Amino acid sequence: MKRPLIAGNWKMFKTVDEAVSLVQTIKAGVSRGADSQIVICPPFTALYAVSKALEGSRIDLGAQNMHPENEGAYTGEISPPMLKDVGCRYVILGHSERRQYFKETSVFINEKVKTALKYSLVPIVCIGETLQEREAKQQFEIVKAQMEQTFKDLSKEEMLKLVIAYEPIWAIGTGRTASPEQAEQMQSYIRRLLKETYSSESAVKIQIIYGGSVKPDNIAALMKKPNVDGALVGGASLKAETFVQIVQNATSEIHIEAGS
Ligand code: PGA
Repeated sequence: MKRPLIAGNWKMFKTVDEAVSLVQTIKAGVSRGADSQIVICPPFTALYAVSKALEGSRIDLGAQNMHPENEGAYTGEISPPMLKDVGCRYVILGHSERRQYFKETSVFINEKVKTALKYSLVPIVCIGETLQEREAKQQFEIVKAQMEQTFKDLSKEEMLKLVIAYEPIWAIGTGRTASPEQAEQMQSYIRRLLKETYSSESAVKIQIIYGGSVKPDNIAALMKKPNVDGALVGGASLKAETFVQIVQNATSEIHIEAGS
């Protein structure tokens, strides 16, 4: 049985006090029951305080971005060792908001993935198509190209140490979730590409999660799909009640449907 990975991406929300208070409530809410991997990704300013608040809990800490160099004259940037220093285990890389608003390319993201792995951070690497691309039926070629560039020169062993988040851009923050069938169709395609490039054995082990308007009422149906290993949750991770509910519902009825 799969062990869901549920990651909360808080984006540019929460002051330090708000972050600590939110994480305390989440911590209490997920302390019993459901066996899942939980990751919380607050803004940089709250990482240290949240890391302290998470001590002794089963929740891991993640950052939302990083620079690929370990140090240097890069005003305003944060490096992988700095993230390790404040207790991060994960880092989200290549989120569509970074690609769209900060013009990050897959080539740059590839550099970040490589350094994250070098510093033993687990990259949660986001890929996904825009609405226009989907309407033009180009979603598969777009995702394939993103994967080729983003994972360029990574070994099979390195691939096993990262998480892929399929996030169709048209479903992020829009309330418009990809249907479980649409998520499964793309995620089984991603798995197939991984099998072709690496071994089948390693491809099945790579975690592929879904992101885009995940809520307590759609997580269970998504998790039933064989190639959905968890979720990257934005808006619904900002309230303890909904995030805890997502964590609980993710494991509530995992009867995996037949693979496609
Ligand atoms: P959303 O965001 O859940 O608010 O759609 C997901 C994400 O951006 O990772």
